[in-house]
Amino acid sequence: MSSVDLDARIPNNVGLADDRKLQKALEAWQPNFLDWWGDMGPEGFQQDQIYLRTAVSVDAGGWAQFEHVKMPDYRWGIFLTPNQEEKVINFGDNIGDPAWDKVPGDWRTELKRIIVTQGDTEPASVEQQRMLGKSAPSLYDLRNLFQVNVEEGRHLWAMVYLLHKYFGRDGREEAEDMLVRRSGNVDNPRILGAFNEPITDWLSFFCFTMFTDRDGKYQLASLAESGFDPLARTCRFMLTEEAHHMFVGETGVGRIIQRTLELMQDNEDVRKAGGIPLDIIQKYVNRWVTVSMDLFGGEDSSNAATYFAAGLKGRFREAGDPNITDHVALEGIYPETRPNEDGSISKIEVPMRRAMNLILRDAYRADCERGIRGWNRLFKKAGMNFKITLPSDRFNRKQGVWAGLPYDPKGEWVGTPGFEARKGDWLPTPEDEAYVASLMKPVYEVGKIASWIAPPKTGLNGQGFDFEYVKFADDPYVR
Ligand SMILES: [Fe+2]
Ligand SMILES: [Fe+2]
Repeated sequence: MSSVDLDARIPNNVGLADDRKLQKALEAWQPNFLDWWGDMGPEGFQQDQIYLRTAVSVDAGGWAQFEHVKMPDYRWGIFLTPNQEEKVINFGDNIGDPAWDKVPGDWRTELKRIIVTQGDTEPASVEQQRMLGKSAPSLYDLRNLFQVNVEEGRHLWAMVYLLHKYFGRDGREEAEDMLVRRSGNVDNPRILGAFNEPITDWLSFFCFTMFTDRDGKYQLASLAESGFDPLARTCRFMLTEEAHHMFVGETGVGRIIQRTLELMQDNEDVRKAGGIPLDIIQKYVNRWVTVSMDLFGGEDSSNAATYFAAGLKGRFREAGDPNITDHVALEGIYPETRPNEDGSISKIEVPMRRAMNLILRDAYRADCERGIRGWNRLFKKAGMNFKITLPSDRFNRKQGVWAGLPYDPKGEWVGTPGFEARKGDWLPTPEDEAYVASLMKPVYEVGKIASWIAPPKTGLNGQGFDFEYVKFADDPYVR
């Protein structure tokens, strides 16, 4: 494993200088990436100095260095978690065989599809979030948004590296296409549904980073188990960055709740005081949890079984979780529930390998529950009898066995007329969205914050909340 070459045109720890052909190909892609960033990256803030962290090495302590930098000068690069000696495939039919350091010929198409699908989400989220800087509630939040954005850009680099290095000409073509598709574009949209939903307000942004980035965590973690070692090591490093994105979402929603609670305790009218009512927060949670669950694919899936059998995609912590003892998974079943015509539910059993999507989704749900429990402690602390709840996996689904069926957030069948009549109680209405939008006014003064969110308990990297996280090149209010 090479050490980190930070001064190279493309910072990397993959020994790029020793592979001239690859280096040239990536250096040819780089200006296109920068053009894309200029067109589709955060609108209006490219000349400002942002307090960003950049990876400078991949070891535990040294991968994050903070400094003020203009976003276009961010050191996008290629970092893999260092090689372990004698890596083996940890699951599936080839368990115990040496891990692949080249693409196994039999699985080329499948691996490319996995990498392209993951890679496409990275620029997509940057595109979805590109207008949010114009309504940031504080400099701290503005900086966090841009940190997330530059790292999603780096995740694209990570996937493009794999495509260029391991998939030849069609890999390069796929890498080009990553910069051509556009989130929400009718003719050429991003691949997955949740990544075509616009994110125009900060409640949505925090819900996205809480719930949709968390889907990313579970996908990346299952790919970090892959028998295709370069993919595994790439995803492992991406996970270190992903943790911050989920922190932004989890604490962001928590701070909104905190602010609303403070207003309620002061007997203020939450709306008049410019806060976000709890029922609206719950509706946004319902929306983003459900679109994120759609990303996990079919509950009973032959593709998932194939990926597992081949050693391409494992379970969450496949190798590391002591509770997972059978890594072949040819025997055993996983319980699944299915809707009947009349809305009643049947319990069925799915062969373990075919249930891998559902197993991953259930692990994801448990992680969401943990986060929501943290929010609910805020209510308890305030002596309030209210709980944010995780909607049932039957509610508001577009994919899988529950798609299009009229269940309520508790998972009760309500019938189509019942669903239509009560939909506005469960999902954001146009009025809710208009209200949230009306609050989205920027606050760019050091140490100040918008009316609808509480400041964080601490700042970043040992700084206070009143640190100058963004140094503006000129007046940000008149852009
Ligand atoms: Fe990402
Ligand atoms: Fe992310």
